[in-house]
Amino acid sequence: MENQLFELARKRRSIRQYGNKRIDDDVIAEIMKVALTAPTSFGHHAVEFVVVREAEMIRKVGACKNFGGSQVNGADTVIVAIVKTSDKRASEFWIEDGAIASAYLLLAIEQYDLGACWVHIRNRKGKLKSSDEEIRQLLNIPDGYTVLNLVALGEKGEKKAPYTEKDLKFGNIHMEKF
Ligand SMILES: Cc1cc2nc3c(=O)[nH]c(=O)nc-3n(C[C@H](O)[C@H](O)[C@H](O)COP(=O)(O)O)c2cc1C
Repeated sequence: MENQLFELARKRRSIRQYGNKRIDDDVIAEIMKVALTAPTSFGHHAVEFVVVREAEMIRKVGACKNFGGSQVNGADTVIVAIVKTSDKRASEFWIEDGAIASAYLLLAIEQYDLGACWVHIRNRKGKLKSSDEEIRQLLNIPDGYTVLNLVALGEKGEKKAPYTEKDLKFGNIHMEKF
């Protein structure tokens, strides 16, 4: 059987430069559907997303991270991954929940031959407050949620070689015992 998921995963690279092509709303909707299939702790589905497509708002979201946030400028869309950390049952695993959903997003985006990059937000600083607080204020995200990361995406504006078997750290896999 062909390993279709490996073929997709090896092509996914972090893309930080984007072209100008506008991505259809339908494509964004298909990508978001995939994120909603990600496993969540206790099946609580505590991960939510704010999909930002307006260029000026994308710039403002990026400005909430005082170092490295400007890399989102020029992206077609920025997906803000938030987790309902006020939900006691989900809060223990909020990082895992958000990270898995974001990883699904990155693969889904590659499937449409678009470029994407994880932009980290947790424990990062904004202009005056934490990046998390500044983004929540900017996007009217209610109390009880925490921002884990952004996923910036757009038409690929840089070329990166897909991973090959030679690039893989097979030594990181330990069979039966370390
Ligand atoms: C938890 C996490 C945080 C990351 N934070 C950032 C970030 O803030 N900015 C960025 O440009 N890339 C970020 N990345 C992307 C990594 O730099 C990238 O995945 C790594 O260099 C490997 O390159 P590849 O994605 O092309 O395989 C992050 C990735 C992960 C998993």
